[in-house]
Amino acid sequence: MARIGATPGGGVHRLTLSDADREARDLFAKWCGEAGLSVAVDEMGNMFARRPGADEAAPPAMLGSHLDSVPCGGRFDGSLGVLAALEVVRSLNDRGLRTRRPLEIVNWTNEEGPRFPPAMLGSGVFCGKYARDWAYQVRDSEGRRFGEELARIGYQGTLPCRPRPLGCYLELHIEQGPVLETEKVQAGVVEGIVGIAWLRVTLKGERDHAGPTPMAMRRDALVGAARVIAAVRAMPAALHPDMVATVGELFVSPNAINVIPGRVTFSVDFRHRDEALMRRARERVLKAVEDAARGERLEVEVEDLGGSSPLPFHPEAVGAVEEACRAGGCSFRRMWSAAGHDARYAAELGPTAMIFIPCAGGKSHCEEEDAAWEDVARG
Ligand code: GLV
Ligand code: MN
Ligand code: MN
Repeated sequence: MARIGATPGGGVHRLTLSDADREARDLFAKWCGEAGLSVAVDEMGNMFARRPGADEAAPPAMLGSHLDSVPCGGRFDGSLGVLAALEVVRSLNDRGLRTRRPLEIVNWTNEEGPRFPPAMLGSGVFCGKYARDWAYQVRDSEGRRFGEELARIGYQGTLPCRPRPLGCYLELHIEQGPVLETEKVQAGVVEGIVGIAWLRVTLKGERDHAGPTPMAMRRDALVGAARVIAAVRAMPAALHPDMVATVGELFVSPNAINVIPGRVTFSVDFRHRDEALMRRARERVLKAVEDAARGERLEVEVEDLGGSSPLPFHPEAVGAVEEACRAGGCSFRRMWSAAGHDARYAAELGPTAMIFIPCAGGKSHCEEEDAAWEDVARG
């Protein structure tokens, strides 16, 4: 799978609804067919590969994750969960085992979100958080619509994308942080997912010549953005040791060495498990934007790109993961996820849990992302 969209640095560049995403989907569908599964695609392009159960009326046990990646991302984020689910099915097939519930492997559309924010859009529509037609009109930075790109790659299915009960949902993922590796623990039993908020801020100043324009006369949008970025970076320390905040995307216009930037657009991402703290963080970011705009006499636009509230997983499902670790003789610790996962939305439709495995140096969303095969197999 990692050959599709492979980057020279050993990662993958497989943005959602790109040609590489289509190729990954085609390969996944082919492997599912070879494993005897029937593949259905819903209106959001979510793919469900089904293995019948003894009780076909029972809500399915669902396993999976996503095959899309961030720009120049890693080979494991998402793909691990989808392909591990396929391995589960192959193992059941090899042993001739029949489960009571039907099993469904899912590949969710647009888990990552950088191309078509917000993240977890496919599972978000599936659980009823976002409307399908709202999702279709979301545009990427080049103005292309989600719905058009979905149709273009041939994955706009006919199955309605709407909530249905899940017997359970389970997602295997690399930790994407350093805790398991540092503590030499083999598995993370995930207790819940932090709240995530995404904003897009646009600052408008005045484009002008970098030479003759006196410093006092400038309205420099990039200087305003720099002040906000510094404030975002400082915010977690003021609010809570576990809060994180990031400006990861920046568009400078016209982006030329001898032109005062007239317009800057940037993203803000902040996360924490406490909803009240998330509200305070939002107020602080908005205040920082206001202050920066006043200082540099800029116009401001703030767009809420969506996000998800903090969510603790089902205690029994979490307990089942812990029990499996014990039974398998695998060391574990409980932990929250500071990364977003589709399990966040699946949890609204049935008992949900996640399993984390260690990853090299805790690194993720980069080409260096790596995991040891023993850890993958144990997971
Ligand atoms: C998805 O990987 C996210 O946590 O943003
Ligand atoms: Mn992921
Ligand atoms: Mn990711």
